[in-house]
Amino acid sequence: MAGPDLDALPPLAADGRVLHVDVLTLFPGIFEGFLRESLIGKAISAGRLEVRLHDWRRFATNKHGRVDDAPFGGGAGMLIEPSAVVAQFDALAAAADPGAPRPLRVMLSPAGPRFAQATARRYAAHEAGIALLCGRYEGFDARVEDEVDELLSVGDYVLNGGEVAAMAVIEAVARLLPGVLGNAMSLVEESHEGGLLEAPQFTRPRTFRDKEVPAILISGDHAKVAAWRRQAALERTRRWRPDLLVNTADPPPAASTD
Ligand SMILES: C[S@@+](CC[C@H](N)C(=O)[O-])C[C@H]1O[C@@H](n2cnc3c(N)ncnc32)[C@H](O)[C@@H]1O
Repeated sequence: MAGPDLDALPPLAADGRVLHVDVLTLFPGIFEGFLRESLIGKAISAGRLEVRLHDWRRFATNKHGRVDDAPFGGGAGMLIEPSAVVAQFDALAAAADPGAPRPLRVMLSPAGPRFAQATARRYAAHEAGIALLCGRYEGFDARVEDEVDELLSVGDYVLNGGEVAAMAVIEAVARLLPGVLGNAMSLVEESHEGGLLEAPQFTRPRTFRDKEVPAILISGDHAKVAAWRRQAALERTRRWRPDLLVNTADPPPAASTD
């Protein structure tokens, strides 16, 4: 099996472009620390990423600021009304440059296809940016699904709201933007980029609880290190995520990685 086929992947955002992310949420405060700290904070300060938080409540049509209501036919919980969502979309369109393509509308939902590295690459390459809809309570009125481009789930479990899911998406997408990670090779060798997990990595000390760092990694022979890593990535994938190997034309050999 060959290494990662980067040509088969969508291109990353062109250098110099800012990725715009609109987050539609009832709880913008949840994002405060997340957008300030670490690489996301730096990507925003460096002008590579812009995240705009929009509060659904601005579009409430009642004096209580509520945009949710009880489901017809009965049932637990409340649903976000379609009118608030459409009003938010209209406001975004009105604020955009005339004729500008609109952002990809992504509804965060446990009903969507699962988020994957390929999805993150597609979003990073989307020139008009992305709009992430964060539900709360029992989610959205079903008619909102006709107003978005796609649904997206971060996994087969249910969160209280879409905010944590939106943070996962923003983080996975932002680190693909040129210049956000210090070393672009980190991306190429990472888990899921080439269909495998990343090879095991080691740091000091060389011996820890009687376990030695594989000698080849300190040999200085780059070709041998690369071959070892390829084999070790296959072994690690077989151990922790054998499901990733199901569609592999060239299954991993049984050789040891020691
Ligand atoms: C409590 S959930 C609603 C679940 C909904 N009643 C259902 O059964 O599909 C509230 C909101 O959290 C978000 N959410 C929950 N789980 C999610 C997941 N796995 N992926 C993405 N978003 C999720 C969605 O935005 C959803 O509208």
